[in-house]
Amino acid sequence: MKSAPDTRPARLQALVGHGVAAIDTPALVIDLDAMERNLQRMADYAKAHGVRLRPHAKMHKSAALSLRQMHAGAVGMCVQKTSEAEALAAGGVHDIYISNEVIAPAKLARVARLARTLQARGGRLAIAVDHRQGVEALAQAIGAGANVIDVFIELDVGQRRCGVAEPADVLPLAQAISSHPALRLAGLQAYNGRAQHLRTVAERRTALDEVLARVREARRLVEAAGLALPLVTGAGSGTFGLEASSGVFGELQAGSYLFMDADYARNEADPAQPAFEHALYVKTQVMSVSAGHVVVDAGHKSHAIESGLPRVYGEALEATGCNDEHTTLRALDGAPLPALGSALWLIPGHCDPTVNLHDWLIGVRGGLQAGTVAELIRVDARGCLD
Ligand SMILES: Cc1ncc(COP(=O)(O)O)c(C=O)c1O
Repeated sequence: MKSAPDTRPARLQALVGHGVAAIDTPALVIDLDAMERNLQRMADYAKAHGVRLRPHAKMHKSAALSLRQMHAGAVGMCVQKTSEAEALAAGGVHDIYISNEVIAPAKLARVARLARTLQARGGRLAIAVDHRQGVEALAQAIGAGANVIDVFIELDVGQRRCGVAEPADVLPLAQAISSHPALRLAGLQAYNGRAQHLRTVAERRTALDEVLARVREARRLVEAAGLALPLVTGAGSGTFGLEASSGVFGELQAGSYLFMDADYARNEADPAQPAFEHALYVKTQVMSVSAGHVVVDAGHKSHAIESGLPRVYGEALEATGCNDEHTTLRALDGAPLPALGSALWLIPGHCDPTVNLHDWLIGVRGGLQAGTVAELIRVDARGCLD
C-alpha cells in the first residue's frame, strides 16, 4: 500500500552545530556523552560476566542506536512488535528477537517473510511463544525449510503477564517446537518486568529467587525428556546483575540503562551493578509564572507520566501536575522560581513511552548548558505498535 504524502510542515527544532540554547522547545534531547558511557558500561559488564547482551530496542526504537550497541558487543537486539522488527531490519540490524507472542496470521506471515530475509542476509530472527496454538500458527506461516527461525518458550517467572504458567508447561511446547524442522528450539524467555522496579535490592533479590527456581525446574523437566533449552534470556535494567551472576541466564535484555528515567532513579542502587546516568531529557521553556508556581511548555504529549511525574534536572523544583501541553512546577525549600522564558530540563518518568512520542532524538555533546547539537537520530519505530 502506498502511504499518503507527509503534509506536516517541516520543523527544524535543532540544527547540527548550533548551541544547545538554540534548541526549540519542547524537544527530546540525548546527552550523547552520558549515553555513550552507559552503553560502554553495560557492554563491559556483560563481557566481564560472560553473558550475551541483547538490549531491548523497544526503549529507543532506533536502528542507528541499535547498531552502536551491536558495534560495542551486543549480539543483536530485542523488540516487542513485528513492525519494530521490520523497522530495525530496514535500518540494517540483522539479528532480532521479538521477545513477545504474535498470534495473528497476517502478522505471522510478516514474521515469516522477515525471518527468511534476515537469514538470506546471514542474520537471524527469533520469537517467543507461550501456547501450542501459537507454535502451530508460527509453523504454518513459516512453511517448509530447516532451521528458519529461533523460538523461545516464555515462562511466567512472576510478572503474571505472558508466558506459560508453570515450569511443567514448558516441556509440551518444547516437544511441539521440536517436531517442526523449520523451527529451532532456542531456549527459554524468563523476564520479570515487575521485579525491575521493586525499590530495594533485597526485594529484587527475593523476586529473582522465584525466577531462578522456576527456570531451573523447567530446564530439569525438559532435559529429563531428552531435549535441551540452549539459552535462557531475560533481565532488565533493574535486576540484570542478578541474572548475570546466576549461572542460569546466558543473555541480558536490558533496555532502559541506555537513557534511564526518573522511575529507575527511585530504585535503591545495587552495588553489584554498574550505575547509569540520565541521558534523556525534555528541554522545556517556562511559559507562565504565577506567585507560587511556574508552567513549562511540555505536557504529557511530550513525556510519559504513567510511571510518575518528571524530575527537573539540577533545579530545586518539583513537578506538581501535568496536562497535555503543560507541566506545573513549584519551588522546593523556598528556592526562587525561574524567570519567564528560562530553559528547564525534565527527566521523564518513563523513557520508553516518552521516546515513542517523538520523531527525532536531538543528540548533544558537551553538556546541557554549553553543549552543541552533534546529531539528529531518527526514532525509526515510532508508533510501530502492530
Ligand atoms: C521482555 C522484556 N525484556 C526486556 C525489557 C527491558 O527492560 P528495561 O527497559 O527495564 O531494561 C523489557 C521492558 O519492558 C521487556 O518487556
